[in-house]
Amino acid sequence: MCGIIGYVGDKKIVPLLIEGLKKLEYRGYDSAGICVLDGGMLKSIKDKGRISELEKEEPLKWISGNAGIAHTRWATHGKPDEINAHPHFDCKKEIAIVHNGIIENYQSLKKLLIKEGHMISSETDSEIIAHLIEKFYEGDLEEAVTRVLKLLEGTYGLAVLSNKEEKIIVAKKGSPLVIGVGDGEMFIASDISPIIEHTNKIIYLSDGEVGIITKDRYIIKNIDGNGVDKKVHEVKWSIDQIEKGNFKHFMLKEIFEQPEVIRNTFRGRIKDGKIKLSLNIDFKKIKRIILTACGTSWHSAVIGKYLIEEYAKIPCEVDYASEFRYRNPMVNTDDLLIAISQSGETADTIAALKEAKGKGAKTLGIVNVVGSTISREVDSGIYLHAGPETGVASTKAFTSQIAALTLFSLYLGQESGMDIDNEILKEMEIIPEKIEKVLENSERIRNIASRFKDKNNFLYFGRGINFPVALEGALKLKEISYIHAEGYPAAEMKHGPIALIDKNMPIVFLATKSSISSKILSNIEEVYARDGKIISVVNEKTPEVEKFSEELIIVPETIEELSPIINVISLQLLAYHIADLKGLDVDKPRNLAKSVTVE
Ligand code: AGP
Ligand code: GLU
Repeated sequence: MCGIIGYVGDKKIVPLLIEGLKKLEYRGYDSAGICVLDGGMLKSIKDKGRISELEKEEPLKWISGNAGIAHTRWATHGKPDEINAHPHFDCKKEIAIVHNGIIENYQSLKKLLIKEGHMISSETDSEIIAHLIEKFYEGDLEEAVTRVLKLLEGTYGLAVLSNKEEKIIVAKKGSPLVIGVGDGEMFIASDISPIIEHTNKIIYLSDGEVGIITKDRYIIKNIDGNGVDKKVHEVKWSIDQIEKGNFKHFMLKEIFEQPEVIRNTFRGRIKDGKIKLSLNIDFKKIKRIILTACGTSWHSAVIGKYLIEEYAKIPCEVDYASEFRYRNPMVNTDDLLIAISQSGETADTIAALKEAKGKGAKTLGIVNVVGSTISREVDSGIYLHAGPETGVASTKAFTSQIAALTLFSLYLGQESGMDIDNEILKEMEIIPEKIEKVLENSERIRNIASRFKDKNNFLYFGRGINFPVALEGALKLKEISYIHAEGYPAAEMKHGPIALIDKNMPIVFLATKSSISSKILSNIEEVYARDGKIISVVNEKTPEVEKFSEELIIVPETIEELSPIINVISLQLLAYHIADLKGLDVDKPRNLAKSVTVE
């Protein structure tokens, strides 16, 4: 997610905005920009890269004024570069905007604007907002902005500046925006981190609200123009608390972001019972799909196999990228290679992708970081829109990858003439609320973690589409608590791992409702008979499971194909709380990097 800051007042505005952007760096970004009303003109500097580079730009020294806006971009539409960086302008450069969020219907609005002669210079969804304000502007900026907001579908944290007056118009829907009330000066920002050193008087905008900000006053209205009374909070947060949103670690914050992340991954991609993906690959020619990735992304690739074979009936193979790249793989021109990567920079995955490309395969990327190497190497792609993932242990990117793979599998089926069962689309719509239900278990899962945190080994068992979830649960625990853990298909237990089971061995079973629930129950009983200490993830408390389990984690039921998204949340929380209770560095575990850009 990006960062926005704006100021109206008498302080030296450029250093104030630059310092404010630096306070927002923790939110993750790929480009930055600033715009100031200086002598009746909107003067701006923007570019790809770090704020520390932006502030060295010579022209900044000659810019001054009393009203300005600035932005750190986390690209969702259009690669990170100078043209796509914010602020964006209307044709006459009399209106500047900075935007945080995704405008779902920007394509249709863009077509309309181009037809009316607007020159749209960037690839972003955001730029159309500036042109739409220009289209409706008849001397009243607030009125024009409000008319535009009624046309926008999607999310925005928006700040607008014109060359006519020292005033900033802000608007919020789905992305955060706050106002800082100073003495003869006003601030607006994505959160309070760039404001708190100037004032602790904060107004939190709500969705559908518009703010009109001048240096001596603020007015808040709703989108219909009616005044809204807002409380001015006196905030006493530390910067560290602000960055982690009052969570102790980024990983926990990102676990709790998952409901919104899944909404963002689906946003604009499910319409009128159809999956909307713009992928320039002729899937009719594809006979086989190879999914390749590393680590957690490889686990989502295994889940992808189940989903694609279920919904599109195309045979799939899954390969560790590090293995695929060196085994001189059999690849044909009617193969599709899917590279899955949060960072888009994993060396093994890039190499595997190039290996397949070199042999004539079509390629698709499922990536979080816009403009990353993999996103530029592939023929086509699906961005996760999960926002920056700071914790080394991947959580929200994993569930977002599964969501993207679900969209892709349904899309493939749709493209080959299969109807999409409305039951699936309905479930996809309500998955975020079901994730919220699991998150409510966090304290209960912490209690379970406190019972098992000193164990030296864990086993995780799952079947079918939940087998890779067992692998992921084990990896999460290993990564951040340094406890040895292994995931297995539950039926594999009798082929070796059952020898490990005794009263000191905790075993986590993914035992939610599925076509093979009865089989899982017999596996649980086999472990129980050997004194294994069982933690069962289930949809309901049944007498058998209760009898055999030391602990139950009850999660909402969903269709089997979507159950990994729900089930993994409980395993992420279990790993997090065990590591936290052991006093370990959850966000930066030893020996690990967030992105493995070397072999
Ligand atoms: C997962 O928690 C780890 N951080 C690691 O396994 C990671 O998934 C792997 O390195 C792949 O990274 P990528 O998704 O950025 O390619
Ligand atoms: N969707 C906009 C873009 O890609 C804004 C992204 C953000 O929130 O930084 O430029």
